[in-house]
Amino acid sequence: MAGEYAPSQKALHWLVAVMVVVQAGLGIWVAFAAPDDEAAAMRLYNAHDGTGAVILVLMLLRLAARLAGRAPRLPPGTPRWAARAAWLNHRALYLVLLAQPLIGWLNNGANGFGWSLYGFLTIPAPISQGEAAAAWLSAVHFWTALALAALVAAHLGGVVFHTFIRRDGLLRRMT
Ligand code: HEM
Ligand code: HEM
Repeated sequence: MAGEYAPSQKALHWLVAVMVVVQAGLGIWVAFAAPDDEAAAMRLYNAHDGTGAVILVLMLLRLAARLAGRAPRLPPGTPRWAARAAWLNHRALYLVLLAQPLIGWLNNGANGFGWSLYGFLTIPAPISQGEAAAAWLSAVHFWTALALAALVAAHLGGVVFHTFIRRDGLLRRMT
């Protein structure tokens, strides 16, 4: 159908949206309020690591679905600047959501850990431990998380613009 996303793309969109909110919560918890108890802290890290892996897999499926088809045409009359902003916003979201789990993996490696899949399995790190690398990879992970938050805020701004200002029913394309 020309006017809306495929059911698989809709399902992946909402699944990723929920997981990203959960992941941001886990990340902030890990970074700013990790429990003193070592076992509890490890469970929290493992939950954040594992959810990052799920997001990466879902995003790869999404990328495949997106490359296999086309995004539906924007509602008629959408201003050019808004169409360009949406184009940039969507590409940047794909890029950040694919990159951030890999940055997390590198960050873990620099800290001497692998990539734990909820504690059941650990993917070895691609780099060895190193203090300087750990410091800057942690900063990259942090700034990428802030960039993601800004992109999501702009995304929601776009939804508000279409839904309440232009009233063009954009949301129906993704629901
Ligand atoms: C309440 C929250 C959200 C609403 C109402 C919403 C709504 C939408 C809508 C209506 C579209 C289709 C835009 C179009 O037709 O051009 C869309 C696309 C998209 N959304 Fe969301 N979204 C939400 C949250 C999120 C979150 C949290 C993320 C990622 C972290 C996200 C990532 C994306 C991406 C990447 C696309 C482009 C899809 C593609 O063309 O393949 N969305 N969203
Ligand atoms: C889309 C996926 C991800 C998102 C949105 C995300 C988001 C965040 C956020 C918001 C924080 C807190 C701010 C900070 O200190 O950086 C954080 C911290 C952290 N994340 Fe992630 N993360 C993701 C994936 C991963 C993965 C896959 C790993 C490990 C394999 C990981 C490892 C860490 C670690 C160790 C911290 C603690 C603080 C640090 O050393 O930077 N993250 N993450």
